[in-house]
Amino acid sequence: MGDFGHFNTRVFHWMDARSKKSTRPEDPYNYLTGFGNEHQSEFIPGALPIGQNSPQICAYGLYAEQITGSSFAAPRSGSMRNFVYRRRPACVHGATTKIKTNTSVTAAFMNASGNIQNIPAQVSWSPFIIPDKADGAVDFVNGLHTLGGSGQPSVREGLAYHIFAINSSMQGKAFVNMDGDFLFVAQEGHLDITTEFGHIYLQPSEICVIQQGLRFKLEINEAKSPSGARGYIIETWGTKWELPELGPLGGYGLANSRDFLFPTADIDTRTTGAWNIISKQGGEYYNTSQNHTPFDVVAWHGNYIPYKYDLSKFVYHNTVSVDHTDPCINTVLTAKSRDPHAPLCDFLVFGPRWDVAEHTFRPPYFHRNCASEFLARIYGPEGTGGRSEVFSPGGASYEAGFTPHGNADERTVGAMHAKMKAMRVGENQLTFMLESCRSLLFTEWALKDCGVLVAEDIPESAWDLLPDRFGQNEEAIRLLKEMGRM
Ligand SMILES: [Fe+2]
Repeated sequence: MGDFGHFNTRVFHWMDARSKKSTRPEDPYNYLTGFGNEHQSEFIPGALPIGQNSPQICAYGLYAEQITGSSFAAPRSGSMRNFVYRRRPACVHGATTKIKTNTSVTAAFMNASGNIQNIPAQVSWSPFIIPDKADGAVDFVNGLHTLGGSGQPSVREGLAYHIFAINSSMQGKAFVNMDGDFLFVAQEGHLDITTEFGHIYLQPSEICVIQQGLRFKLEINEAKSPSGARGYIIETWGTKWELPELGPLGGYGLANSRDFLFPTADIDTRTTGAWNIISKQGGEYYNTSQNHTPFDVVAWHGNYIPYKYDLSKFVYHNTVSVDHTDPCINTVLTAKSRDPHAPLCDFLVFGPRWDVAEHTFRPPYFHRNCASEFLARIYGPEGTGGRSEVFSPGGASYEAGFTPHGNADERTVGAMHAKMKAMRVGENQLTFMLESCRSLLFTEWALKDCGVLVAEDIPESAWDLLPDRFGQNEEAIRLLKEMGRM
């Protein structure tokens, strides 16, 4: 066995750990495999009906309930739904009331206004602060903070980026996002997520999608999370995450579909009594009370199921001759927009890999992309690199679409003169990037209340590393003179 104990900082790729399981040793749960598959699972034998969905009387006295993630008559390729067989249907509950427990969650991003603003220049955030438990318990419900977004969920258009920074587990309550899908990126701490379909264990550098309308409870494994837990959430409205097309790569590569893991049925037989279901609708919180656990699904089948993926399994591709391949080659998942030429969001990963390009400026070329870019480091060195990389694990950086940038540090400049040897890059680090056709509007929490915004994180002098070399080039000067332009 490889050194799993320091998985996050020592494994170049998942295969280096030589695991015979599809999960890390800390993960206590069993999973089904395969992105986009129809899955099924039953906690006790015979709970899942065969040959039909809605028997007159379900096995063991269970109730059948369907959850649809797409319209009933959606084309098969986009049809997402499931049937669950549970002790009580979800409609068995008490009163629903509006609550105000978290004012840093927002879901309306149509125009810049007093509360939400464009960010026209490059910015970064130092690591987002995990609240000290001595100052009070902060669970996922009140430890969720919206950074920014574009669009709004009521018209099923757009997305939002969030941070969660928590020191406690949810107790006696479940969360459900009625607005859209959550893509979690675990960065600090170990998370034990109970869903209606079973458990998902999430460690730093793993991601997890919990779709719109599905209930979950997020707990911290305290023994593995002495500093609490922190991570990122990408919320998407009116679209679903898909694997990118592989094109000339063929049948395999990037994030392989068999590496996506789905939970197996489990039920909560430990809790009794009162539960609160906290729902987010239009960015507002509501509470529905009930006197039984929402995690009572004994069997289920379908394809609208939460799932997770370990980013260390990503299969990198890049040039083996010349030039720097466009970053889309690092796409893990993509969420389409209604514009076929511009995804709502691409989720990209940059981890340990080989760089072998010859006759090439190997770092990212200087660029002005139509997409906005949000970068965050899951683990790796702190505060390194040029403009696009000046951030530490747990922080982030952002450039709106068409904001000029690139890397301007000694290492980048040195790359212009480096000997072209095959080399490992990105060792002991993992960074993800969100590329969106939307330039986001940012909240007061992102711009002020989080307390870690670094507006100008790189000194102006750093760009002086990039002098006007053309203006000093003797051959260029001679030619310009010949042309009468000097
Ligand atoms: Fe960039």
